Amino acid sequence: MRDVEKIVYWKDAWEKKKMDTKKSEVFWDNRAAFFNTKVSLEKNESSDIIDLLLKKEMLHEEMSVLDIGCGPGKHTIPMARIVKKITALDISENMLNHLQNNAKKMNLDNIKTLKKDWKDIDLEKEGWNKAFDFVFASMTPGVFDFNTLEKMTKASKNYCFLSGFVDREDSIFDEVEAEISKIYSLEKRKDKKVYYAFNVLWHLGYTPEVFYLNREWEDIRTVEETWQLYVDKISMQVELKEEEKMYIKEELKKHQNNGKVKEKTKVKIGVLTWSV
Ligand SMILES: C[S@@+](CC[C@H](N)C(=O)[O-])C[C@H]1O[C@@H](n2cnc3c(N)ncnc32)[C@H](O)[C@@H]1O
Repeated sequence: MRDVEKIVYWKDAWEKKKMDTKKSEVFWDNRAAFFNTKVSLEKNESSDIIDLLLKKEMLHEEMSVLDIGCGPGKHTIPMARIVKKITALDISENMLNHLQNNAKKMNLDNIKTLKKDWKDIDLEKEGWNKAFDFVFASMTPGVFDFNTLEKMTKASKNYCFLSGFVDREDSIFDEVEAEISKIYSLEKRKDKKVYYAFNVLWHLGYTPEVFYLNREWEDIRTVEETWQLYVDKISMQVELKEEEKMYIKEELKKHQNNGKVKEKTKVKIGVLTWSV
């Protein structure tokens, strides 16, 4: 049963700064090649996410799926091998180009790509009201508030999936971010999306199931690449002055070894699945 007062409470609590579409697009375009290295094109390789969906019988061959913020297709590709058709939406052209190449390499012709910001999608105009059996949004900032979450449930006639970081530690970025946060108020990247989404969905009358996945990895990048990444990440929220950008570079030089910076990342990912 819908509980209007509680829905309004959680909707307001979740209110987040809207990301500038152009800045997000540039940020993700610049990250596309790196994310593409994480896509596996091994025919038989599965993932814990796909295994979970299969176990819960959320994927089957007659389905149509909407993948919001699909990236280069880490999950789109394995899902496309199972279901009938997938609409893969992303704000970044480069991400979609990688996805199309990956689909070609895998001889998959059931993926339709669409370059759009999810917040700008009008379900009515697209003819997407209750259009998909399964609406999937993995680790995407495209779903970031009440409206973008509710839109997922409206586009689905059966199941939905949403995941996001519950906790995240980056060995070097956290130090830099803490320093910059003394000057500007930055929204914590240790985002509460899953927490807010759970509460909103609950009061909308759904009963989402929650899972947690722990992951750890290391990324090795040049000082320049790391600097660009940090500046881009922070610039999505605030305009950095030249001296602050230089400060970041000097900090990174302290961490470099032969011109490379090794960042260790430890995350806890929260996964919500629900039936509409
Ligand atoms: C961290 S990647 C996740 C990619 C993929 N879903 C996965 O789980 O591996 C986030 C993706 O969301 C996309 N994205 C960011 N903001 C978006 C928005 N407002 N609308 C649609 N896609 C967006 C990015 O371009 C990027 O491809």
